[in-house]
Amino acid sequence: MSHSAHSNDTHASTRPPLKLLTSVGASFVLPLVVVGVLVSIFLSGGSSVPKASMAEDAVAARIQKVGSIAFAEARKEARTGEQVFQAQCGACHATGAAGSPKFGDAAAWGPRIGKGFDALLTSALKGKGNMSPQGGGASSDFEVARAVVYMANAGGAKFAEPKAPK
Ligand code: HEC
Repeated sequence: MSHSAHSNDTHASTRPPLKLLTSVGASFVLPLVVVGVLVSIFLSGGSSVPKASMAEDAVAARIQKVGSIAFAEARKEARTGEQVFQAQCGACHATGAAGSPKFGDAAAWGPRIGKGFDALLTSALKGKGNMSPQGGGASSDFEVARAVVYMANAGGAKFAEPKAPK
């Protein structure tokens, strides 16, 4: 008798916490799960994604506008010799294409450097052999001069950076 009463007691004393847990689960966890699901549907859901990417497009367009204005501003400043080389001269001189003296090739540049900077600049401005005037592009004379210095110096010359025109 006392045995069964004891076991009933134990049973009774463990029940309320279980019930409490269950009701806590129902009243807190379940709503949290529902909210969580709703939030995740909202975040990844169909209608919110196009809105976000449209906003991104708009921002990108604005940044691009600012960027191209900044680029146009910068373009008023003469490009460096390296920039002109990358944009234009490298088409031939990076690889030595069309029989051009290759960038950094001291053996190819040595005899040319010996003629002096002015001679090289004249060749670059007026063209020589397979090279069109200005290397074929629309750079200012100053930019071409910078590119000549950049290339010749990479080939072993020690020409000074040309002075900017007034
Ligand atoms: C279409 C190819 C091509 C491009 C682009 C080109 N060059 Fe050349 N360049 C040559 C060739 C070919 C020679 C060798 C010409 C020769 O000696 O007959 C040469 C030679 C030169 C020389 C040596 C000239 C001399 O008197 O020995 C210089 C300096 C030079 N280029 C500068 C430039 C610069 C600066 C640019 C860019 C603005 C440029 N080149 C773009 C093909 C090119």
